[in-house]
Amino acid sequence: MRKFSISSTFLFGLYLLFTALISALDAREKITAAEYQQRRDKVVSLMDNQSVALLSSGTTKARAGDLNFPFYPDPNFYYLTGCKDAGAFLLLAPQGIKIEGAAATQVLFLASGYNAYTGDLRGEVPVLDSSGAMVIADKKHFDEIRHQVLSRADALYVPAWPQGFLHDPISDKRFFIEREAKKAIKEKYSQLPIKSISAPLAQMRQLKSEQEIALLKQAASITSRALCEVMRSAETGMYEYDLQAILEYAFKRLGAEDVGFNSIVGSGPNAIILHYDKNRRCIEAGELVLMDVGAQYEGYGADITRTFPVSGRFSPAQRELYEIVLRANREAIQIMKPGVPFKEVEAKAAAVVADGLQKLGIIPEAKAVKNYLPHGVSHHIGLETHDAGEYKLLQAGMVITMEPGIYIPVESTDVDVKYRGIGIRIEDDILITPNGHEVITDEVPRTIAEIEKLMKEKGLGQIRIR
Ligand code: GLY
Ligand code: MN
Ligand code: MN
Repeated sequence: MRKFSISSTFLFGLYLLFTALISALDAREKITAAEYQQRRDKVVSLMDNQSVALLSSGTTKARAGDLNFPFYPDPNFYYLTGCKDAGAFLLLAPQGIKIEGAAATQVLFLASGYNAYTGDLRGEVPVLDSSGAMVIADKKHFDEIRHQVLSRADALYVPAWPQGFLHDPISDKRFFIEREAKKAIKEKYSQLPIKSISAPLAQMRQLKSEQEIALLKQAASITSRALCEVMRSAETGMYEYDLQAILEYAFKRLGAEDVGFNSIVGSGPNAIILHYDKNRRCIEAGELVLMDVGAQYEGYGADITRTFPVSGRFSPAQRELYEIVLRANREAIQIMKPGVPFKEVEAKAAAVVADGLQKLGIIPEAKAVKNYLPHGVSHHIGLETHDAGEYKLLQAGMVITMEPGIYIPVESTDVDVKYRGIGIRIEDDILITPNGHEVITDEVPRTIAEIEKLMKEKGLGQIRIR
């Protein structure tokens, strides 16, 4: 028998193959440096030659002393840089910015040094492509460079300022952030028109790249599988937070870094509160539970709602309303394809709900549907749960929700008592494809038969803590 000896060349070859495979997998799971570069190049190509764009990642907010609330970078800034540092700035200038003897059209300013509280090595941008056009500069140069570019620019592009105002209770004065900022800029650079960069960024962000779609599918899969685990585990007498704990445990176990928004776990009449997230109530026998939840994966978040009976079986009245919502969800998704206006999809869902409620005698005419379906039923998802977009025509590459519902408040004395106190929403995430659409949240069941079957399976159950 011939003795087989593994040569070091062979082993090295295997090692190379293995590392190439690992990095290929890794690359699929992240937005690449090249993609961030393409996004910045596109913005620069849309700007007038003598203009400047300035984006900020935002600032941290203290919760107690040196402890901060979680920091989420401004989504437009993050979309262009992949940088999660607080207090960072991005300057874009088609005519070039002189910095440390070189000229660049894109400069990212970061604080340098080690942060002893967070352990972060500030100034590290893992996604930076050294071949890209962006230069990283120390933030200590920012004031000087900003002044240099703003004094000679003929327009300044900025994303929208944070909405709202700060109220000083002593002077009883309101400081509207946008008004105050614009006033201060005018005082310093009177010649400088201020233009919004939000619209072009929304046009870009509403069309997802292949990598963004892969990340959204991953977030949708994690969310779906976690919801299945919750449905297998739900029992009468659990608290809403028990279900939240099982869900978010599964999110983490499946690799999600965060929730994209506070998990909504509304049982019984709490399901009628659209964004209820207190999650403190004990779930009683026979009640429905509405869970509107989304895992976030590499910055991208899903948004799924399922409504299920805690006992594992829908009552006849719950069934009647559920079937209407399900039909609205299915029929509105069915018409999704490129070229269809957002408002047509919205109208379709509302019309199906209106028809169903009229047939049950809950509303006298279609326009009364808004009493029991008081919200829009479709939005983009992405870096933000309600993601940036124009909301005009559907286009291939968009990823949007469809989330019709029926909410009958307990005090609706004009509605048959059997329907009162019921809240139902069914929300799916849909990729618009060149020829139609693809539902990316099919891993979690939505029909009554499928849900009742799933709920018979054994789940994690009540995790006992001694
Ligand atoms: N989860 C919030 C929404 O569905 O819009
Ligand atoms: Mn939702
Ligand atoms: Mn939604």
